[in-house]
Amino acid sequence: MKKKAYINEKIKKFNKEIIVPGDKSLSIRFVLLASQAIGKSVAYNILKSQDVLSALNTIKKLGIHYNLNKKNCEIYGKGFNGFSFKNNIKIDAGNSGTLSRLIFGLLINSKNTIILKGDQSLSQRDFSRVIKPMRMFGQNIESKNNKLPIKVRGTNFPRPINYTEVKGSAQVKSCILLAAMKTAGKTKIKCIPSRDHTEKLFLYLDLPIKIKKGKKFETIILNGKKNYKAFNYVIPGDISSSAFFIALTLLSKNSKILIKNVNVNNSRTGIIDILKIMNAKIYLKNKRTNNGEKIADIFVKSSNKLKSINCPAKMNSRSIDEFLIIFLICSVANGVSKFRKISELRNKETDRLKFANNFLKKIGIKTKMTKSSFKIYGKPNLKLNKTYEIKNFDKDHRACMMSFIAALTLGGKWIIHDTDSIKTSFPNFIKILKSLGAKIN
Ligand code: S3P
Repeated sequence: MKKKAYINEKIKKFNKEIIVPGDKSLSIRFVLLASQAIGKSVAYNILKSQDVLSALNTIKKLGIHYNLNKKNCEIYGKGFNGFSFKNNIKIDAGNSGTLSRLIFGLLINSKNTIILKGDQSLSQRDFSRVIKPMRMFGQNIESKNNKLPIKVRGTNFPRPINYTEVKGSAQVKSCILLAAMKTAGKTKIKCIPSRDHTEKLFLYLDLPIKIKKGKKFETIILNGKKNYKAFNYVIPGDISSSAFFIALTLLSKNSKILIKNVNVNNSRTGIIDILKIMNAKIYLKNKRTNNGEKIADIFVKSSNKLKSINCPAKMNSRSIDEFLIIFLICSVANGVSKFRKISELRNKETDRLKFANNFLKKIGIKTKMTKSSFKIYGKPNLKLNKTYEIKNFDKDHRACMMSFIAALTLGGKWIIHDTDSIKTSFPNFIKILKSLGAKIN
């Protein structure tokens, strides 16, 4: 179903407290790790979005029972050899890059063949990044051009590996760690740092993981084959969902917002550091730690003196999902913002660099784009008064949500297509916008 939204006026000033849903990366990781635990694991505040439902559906097809209740999510894991399913079953990962990459790790010891498929957007994405290390473990993989659909079967004797990961991809690192967990012996990953939720969960589960931080790379060592018991887990709010409300507040006049209980893991807070460099009024309050993850309330005030940024490449992986909204903020900042080594944005749900370039051009912002870099010539007094139609973004949820924030802060009349894409990560996004006073038809 293709749904459209119409926005004809900017949001008026607001001063509110909101809660965004549970973190998507943590929700998917909970589902996958609970499926390998022994006994009933329970998560609170799990994200009930399409990607997480795809993860639940996946473990169900692999023979694991779950209950998704109003208050919690219960998963009845059966240990490392607990999957049971018929040969050649089809698993649909939907739109989820994280699920479709991480599941390879859990299938390292599967006896039967699975055919993994996904939606149109996921079927265009690259899987060589996981196929290569998984083959080293001994997994049997058949694919055309390293794209979905892919046939995968495990091995009786997965062997530990030494692997160097240079993309700064948490999906690749996590896929390797999940396979290594089921392997007798020591796996060593040398990698560019990326979100470290899997490592933190392994520590929480008392798995023998060691992390050595280096200047450019870090080294992770895991000793496999240690079973773990079922666990309880409270999932904090998603900073990637919060990002849209941070931007909405920064770009609106005389407004304030408090976003409660957000995961502020250092490997995810690039957006806060970037926006602070740009002069944004953004503060972390009530900092605490739960289940090994840092949590805080994020307080933001309208900021009308934003300046451009020359973004250090080391921020890239820490803000990988926030670039679209950061680019939008840069378009009204004073000066030329520069980003480099960001070609990974071309491998997301849509080519986000291309999307951002077309989008900013459409609203009258000068840009310069290369294969892996982007320059934005900010216009602090940007005021729009034309009609803008946003479509053909491969149903990328974040491209869609970024368009809503532009429409509500920059003026003009907007028609945004494929709004059902938002269900991928943030089903009540529009409801929260409306609770702040946004007029959306
Ligand atoms: C994710 C890792 C990132 C991110 C994605 C979620 C994860 O992808 O873009 O939305 O949960 O591990 P990459 O690992 O491809 O950078």
